[in-house]
Amino acid sequence: MRPDGRPSGPRRPEQARVFFALWPDEPVRQALHRAAVDAAKRFGGRATRAETLHLTLAFIGDVALDRLPALHEAAAGVECEAFAMRIDRLGFWGHNRILWAGTSQPQRRLGELVGQLGARLQAIGHGGAADAGRPFAPHVTLVRNVGDKRPELPALPQLEWACARFVLVRSRLSAAGSAYETLGQWPLR
Ligand code: 2AM
Repeated sequence: MRPDGRPSGPRRPEQARVFFALWPDEPVRQALHRAAVDAAKRFGGRATRAETLHLTLAFIGDVALDRLPALHEAAAGVECEAFAMRIDRLGFWGHNRILWAGTSQPQRRLGELVGQLGARLQAIGHGGAADAGRPFAPHVTLVRNVGDKRPELPALPQLEWACARFVLVRSRLSAAGSAYETLGQWPLR
């Protein structure tokens, strides 16, 4: 018996919910946040807070804390060039009522980064970028729980996002939303 009265036994190691992402610089963050607030006003829903706007490269999910060094090592071996990503469109997914910002053109360097990171994660036993077998769909979630079932999406002013590093982030969910902590960051060449 433990001092708190609960039965003793093997304890589940502490877990962290983590993912790899690109984080926007200030001008892009501001522009995306404006678009998010406008869209939430028009269509209902909850705009993503400016400081949490990001593009997920690989969602890992819950891992034991002692797995984190392996994730750092996998990330450190990625060799990709820095690139400029064009964000030029809004999209809406009905199944999860997410309104997002993305790109209308394939971004070769982004594909290389996601491919390399995904392969290195797979090699150490993590699924990589795909969401339960779905192909990777690069997006920045702007609004959750969109009220309007068929929002007429306005045009998004074209943004150039200078991608010079990627990050490993821990997400803690609470009633107030997600709080993110950066666990590591790696430069792109
Ligand atoms: P979302 O913004 O579309 O919800 C942290 O939760 C980040 O990981 C978010 O960008 C989230 O995408 C993404 N994410 C959450 N669960 C995921 C999953 N099962 N597969 C892929 N990405 C996921």
